Amino acid sequence: MDLNGKVAVVTGGGSGIGAGIAEALLEKGVRVAIADISAAHMAEENERLGGRLLTVALDVTDPASWAAMKAEVEGKLGPVDVLVNNAGLSHPFKPIEDVADAEYDRLMAVNVKGVFLGCKAFVGGMKARRSGHVVNVSSANGLIPFGTFSVYSASKFAVAGMSEALHQELAPHGVGVSILYPGLTKSRMADQQVGRISSMVPMGAVWLGRAVCRAIEDNRLHVISHPDMKPAIERRIDVLFGDFGEPAEPGYRGAMPRV
Ligand SMILES: NC(=O)c1ccc[n+]([C@@H]2O[C@H](COP(=O)([O-])OP(=O)(O)OC[C@H]3O[C@@H](n4cnc5c(N)ncnc54)[C@H](O)[C@@H]3O)[C@@H](O)[C@H]2O)c1
Repeated sequence: MDLNGKVAVVTGGGSGIGAGIAEALLEKGVRVAIADISAAHMAEENERLGGRLLTVALDVTDPASWAAMKAEVEGKLGPVDVLVNNAGLSHPFKPIEDVADAEYDRLMAVNVKGVFLGCKAFVGGMKARRSGHVVNVSSANGLIPFGTFSVYSASKFAVAGMSEALHQELAPHGVGVSILYPGLTKSRMADQQVGRISSMVPMGAVWLGRAVCRAIEDNRLHVISHPDMKPAIERRIDVLFGDFGEPAEPGYRGAMPRV
């Protein structure tokens, strides 16, 4: 997709990676709306970027909030060509038994249901126009789970799985899907994780935004901003393939469809 002149919405665009993606889209001549639960975050980023953003209130967990945001953005900017589902939460590193039920519910509501509701709100219009691109923000933890980060890892595997399925589903309709798997990146969320990862150097968020723009332009599925994660992924895949063997039922011939 040629991005110049297109319309994009970035959820969680008031901070960190979402703000970096919004900045990179502006560099490409895109008309950008950021949609965030925090008006203060959005005001700060819009000021940093010279007031060039449309800022719209959104709680990604609420279908009515999605409908209101969509109506406002389309009323002011026109149909949305690019949806970036970026808003997300993490939890402190801790054993799974110490994750409160309410913490689990809220994290899954924002990180997983928020992406689902965003796709539901926008892909119908994109399919009808046979044009559009959805970017879903997973994480390095959507490819490599970390112990003591179990619920966050589960949410990011869910985003990756939903997005790959959506990629298959939307390709025949001329709509693209990309998945961003960030490693440590400068943001409010990263600031909260200093206990475990203080020795690691976070990447600047606008560089992830520029990688996302290239992926939209090239219609590429996977956006790997931090290739230093590759050895850990290889070790994980080696363990997985190492556990392949004979079928549990001797002689079973299989029925897996080709995907
Ligand atoms: N920063 C990292 O190192 C890192 C690494 C991997 C993945 N990620 C992912 O990147 C995405 C962005 O994270 P970030 O690090 O920039 O975090 P951040 O905390 O700096 O920004 C997140 C933004 O989302 C907004 N938000 C939170 N709940 C919302 C809701 N219900 N509705 C709408 N907006 C809401 C917040 O107000 C905030 O402005 C998340 O999905 C996160 O899981 C971040």
